[in-house]
Amino acid sequence: MKTSKWIEKNIPSLEGKTVAISGATGGIGKELCRHLAALGASLVLLDRNPEKSLALKKTLQKDFPALGVKNITLDLEDIDSVRSVAESLLQDPPDALILNAGAYHIPRHKCSTGFDNVFQINFVSPYYLARTLLPKIQERGGRIVAVGSIAHTYSSANFSDIDFSLVTKSSKAYGNAKRYLMFSLFGLDEYGKTVVVAHPGITFTNITAHYPRLIFAIIKHPMKVIFMRPARACLSILYGLVTECGKNEWIGPKFFKVWGLPRRQRLSTCSDEEAAQICAIAEEIYDQSDLFAE
Ligand SMILES: NC(=O)c1ccc[n+]([C@@H]2O[C@H](COP(=O)([O-])OP(=O)(O)OC[C@H]3O[C@@H](n4cnc5c(N)ncnc54)[C@H](OP(=O)(O)O)[C@@H]3O)[C@@H](O)[C@H]2O)c1
Repeated sequence: MKTSKWIEKNIPSLEGKTVAISGATGGIGKELCRHLAALGASLVLLDRNPEKSLALKKTLQKDFPALGVKNITLDLEDIDSVRSVAESLLQDPPDALILNAGAYHIPRHKCSTGFDNVFQINFVSPYYLARTLLPKIQERGGRIVAVGSIAHTYSSANFSDIDFSLVTKSSKAYGNAKRYLMFSLFGLDEYGKTVVVAHPGITFTNITAHYPRLIFAIIKHPMKVIFMRPARACLSILYGLVTECGKNEWIGPKFFKVWGLPRRQRLSTCSDEEAAQICAIAEEIYDQSDLFAE
């Protein structure tokens, strides 16, 4: 089925709704914004690079002249920026928040919170936003959709190295952070009425372009052909805005979690004990977040 037909059949109009989305300037983010704009939503773009974010606003408004767009700068590595964005969203809450920004193979360092930046970007900061905004979004009958990844299966949590700062392999550090994000959020909203986890499978974006140059040159074009394009891969995230998930369920592509249209799927990749410990750690970090304020 064509992407536009599927959207027409499965996603109601978002006229009058406001959707805030992090990482809007990324490969998946841009395509999501286009779908959301076509559905009539107003957008709040939460991006770390204001120039890129404003350029995106301009492009979107060229194609959708009636589109309402607000830009807010959000650097997920910086807890002060995250707190300030949370405060601003609390003043004027969106109907939905899409926690889409993420980072995989990046130079590693410790953030002001003491956590590894991959852990901070993919887990600590998005959890802070979700946790802070959840009551307001619940009040509005809205949704928080967090973007997870199949990489969360690459390893289990190690409670003596929570942020995997001792692990050099990017795939594991990224997978661990996504694991924390996904299972901590399940703990926040056990019945999946407000918080939903979705994933795109694999799609060719900047985040998938982390291979050594030669390998990348060889695989780049086949990857574009083999995997779904971002405009289609992001349908799972869009579907998360209108689909309730039960405990330990997520939304992703139907076939082998990589191809096809979105489907709600059961997750059995984390034991109840590990998930409970992840939730407890998430809350502990959240409670300490004020201590990191400058
Ligand atoms: N592509 C895939 O196959 C795949 C698979 C599973 C899950 N995902 C998830 O999908 C989401 C979107 O990724 P993508 O594929 O669209 O990758 P992408 O093109 O690299 O986009 C990532 C987005 O996150 C933003 N970002 C990175 N670090 C940030 C920071 N410190 N503060 C604020 N924003 C930051 C980037 O900002 P800039 O635009 O300024 O760089 C970009 O907008 C991510 O959560 C990713 O983990 C992707």
